[in-house]
Amino acid sequence: MTTTTASRPRIAVLLSGRGSNLAALLRNDCGGDIVVVGSNKAVAKGLDIARDAGIRTFAVSHKDFAAREAFDQALVNELNEHRPDLVVLAGFMRILTPIFTNAFAGRLINIHPSLLPSFPGVDTHERALAEGVKLHGCTVHFVTPVLDAGPIIAQAAVQVDDDDTAETLAAKVLLQEHQIFPYAVRLFCEGRLQVEGQRVRTLPKSPAQVTSGMAAGV
Ligand code: GRF
Repeated sequence: MTTTTASRPRIAVLLSGRGSNLAALLRNDCGGDIVVVGSNKAVAKGLDIARDAGIRTFAVSHKDFAAREAFDQALVNELNEHRPDLVVLAGFMRILTPIFTNAFAGRLINIHPSLLPSFPGVDTHERALAEGVKLHGCTVHFVTPVLDAGPIIAQAAVQVDDDDTAETLAAKVLLQEHQIFPYAVRLFCEGRLQVEGQRVRTLPKSPAQVTSGMAAGV
């Protein structure tokens, strides 16, 4: 079990669906405490996962707002109630405006099911098959106002086999998502990500982090 200390970053998660990436964050110690999980869908399965883990949840429906900006501002307000150090998009299926991305600039991370900059947007597995690529994968990146184009923190690749379908490819990629997402969040929480333009450098662990990792057996 992980001890919660005052210095652990507060993490807010947004999702729209089944929440397997949230579950991966909960299974692994990602270096911070998930203090709230929000969704644009009140019935998202991911909200059940959060509630089962004793985490506070909220839902704000985008359908209640005429403009994207108004929805984004409502989300920002809701999230700020929980004073997040990091906001994590774990399958949050809304395009965000600068109202949102600027509010959390530098502390907003997304998981995307392709090897960016290939295949930004939706239907990534179908498009990868249609293009005939032999390697596909997933990317964790900082979010900027440009869709799926922020500095890349981590990527994992999978081989595309001749008999792959969009479903089998998605399943292979998802397994990798569950590896790199907690890893990337942990790097952020440990203060080990240094952004220089589009490049993200991973700093080594500090002596204190090495010592506490040895004590925890990691
Ligand atoms: C994942 O494939 C993620 O990369 C994409 O949406 C999907 C969410 O899956 N952004 P889950 O809800 O975490 O299971």
